[in-house]
Amino acid sequence: MRHLIDPTDLSMSELDEIINLALDIIDNREKYADACKGKKLATLFYEPSTRTRLSFTSAMLELGGSVLGFSDAKSSSVAKGETCADTTKTISCFADIIAMRHFEEGAALVAAMNARVPVINAGDGSHSHPTQTLTDLLTIKREVGRFDNLTIGFCGDLRFGRTVHSLIKAMSRYEGVKVVLIAPEQLRLPSYMKQEVCDKNNIPYVEVSSMEEVMGDLDILYMTRVQKERFLDEDEFDRLKDSFILDAEKLKKARPEMRVLHPLPRVNEITIDVDKDPRAAYFRQVENGKFVRMALILKLLEWAKDESKTIDLIPADTIRNQHVCSTKRCISNMETGIEYLFRPRTDKPGKFRCVYCESKAKL
Ligand code: NCD
Repeated sequence: MRHLIDPTDLSMSELDEIINLALDIIDNREKYADACKGKKLATLFYEPSTRTRLSFTSAMLELGGSVLGFSDAKSSSVAKGETCADTTKTISCFADIIAMRHFEEGAALVAAMNARVPVINAGDGSHSHPTQTLTDLLTIKREVGRFDNLTIGFCGDLRFGRTVHSLIKAMSRYEGVKVVLIAPEQLRLPSYMKQEVCDKNNIPYVEVSSMEEVMGDLDILYMTRVQKERFLDEDEFDRLKDSFILDAEKLKKARPEMRVLHPLPRVNEITIDVDKDPRAAYFRQVENGKFVRMALILKLLEWAKDESKTIDLIPADTIRNQHVCSTKRCISNMETGIEYLFRPRTDKPGKFRCVYCESKAKL
């Protein structure tokens, strides 16, 4: 079976296939109107969502398929204490493909380990969000025209922002990409991203403390919301929530061909006077999310029938039940019946990272 849990689960050629199919869908909508006739998508959303869930729904309906699921886990048997593994086994009996969003990191991986149908990670805690990455890539393709030789500024909550983690992973596979990290000290990019994604792939990154100082250097400015729901300390959120605000005045320093992306929802980090600037691509980005999810659903349903497309969910060098994860919100610490799975770190021999959420082992 083939799933999408991490953006790098897709090879570069598979990624091109999905982007090219999305572009064909944009040009030939009627050609795909019955492509998923008789197929069902289950959307299992344990966390709030507008764009991701409704773009999945809209994508499946435009392909002629149907959709079932829940948008509030409290209305499902989760409220009775059912595990993610058992819910997935159940839904596998009802649907041909599953899109899952969960507040537990690694939940989509556990779902995939227990599913008989393809599972798509629609966001797992502050870890990953690979279909937002597909959306971002299609937007970059349509707005900028290339993936190589781009300088991308990531601004806001780089610590908890799962869209940032997934996009940096995806971009680290292209040539000549440079990353500029614009965040307050408390919301900096996690060390595993710096060491095992940027350093490992020779992606240069700099950390700066204002967007003005780098604005003129950027091809893309990727703005993000400070992720209120991930903070344990409300006062800390209040101190950080207004850290970086993009307004029309600051945008004056940007190049005419620069593009502003944002996964949305926006709170106050982009003022509405930016919306009318042609460089503001975030509402066009939303529509790309539907097209790319149409392409993804089609490809995963096609690959589900092809044994050669199966990839290992658990890497061969995984060690079982010898360490405990240091992250509280990791599914291995939140649900029963989950094995602890760790892999050797490439940056520090003798040390290990959790397979579910990529955090360090607890000392
Ligand atoms: C993002 C998410 O859920 O991570 N939203 C989305 O899917 N478009 C970003 C966010 O919530 O800030």
